Amino acid sequence: MAEELIIPVGTDRKEIYDALIPQISGLIETESDLIANLANITAVLKEAFGFFWVGFYIAKEGQLVLGPFQGPIACTRIPFHKGVCGASYSQQKTILVPDVDHFPGHIACSSASKSEIVLPVFHKNGTVAMILDVDSDQLDDFSEIDAAGLQSILTLLERKL
Ligand code: SME
Repeated sequence: MAEELIIPVGTDRKEIYDALIPQISGLIETESDLIANLANITAVLKEAFGFFWVGFYIAKEGQLVLGPFQGPIACTRIPFHKGVCGASYSQQKTILVPDVDHFPGHIACSSASKSEIVLPVFHKNGTVAMILDVDSDQLDDFSEIDAAGLQSILTLLERKL
């Protein structure tokens, strides 16, 4: 396992995602423990992009339950249909929110969170295993570049589910 993350400097997000994908693949490929892999993925994303909050909510006990994350403390349980996380889970799709104040039902774990992107992670049988939630303290901080880059990372993870 590589001990050091190599993050290209002075490049755009697409190039950073491109550099991270093989490194994340290397990090998780020989580790079978799910929580360890989720923890390292959140650490990579936090270190590479400095996101305000990045973490997983795992579908269990009829709810989304907080999993490994990086950032300030967060809500521990989210109902399947509540907030951006619940919308991504129940609609089984990526949701990009440029301004959380304009998303009906947004759950404000922190008032500093201004925009976010949430992506579902699928089991092989097509059900949603968990969601990845990335929050920014800047408005309109996420684009299709993030949707594609994060999706590529989650595809690596889905192979191990
Ligand atoms: N923003 C989420 C809640 C989770 S926290 O932001 C970490 C939502 O509305 O679903």
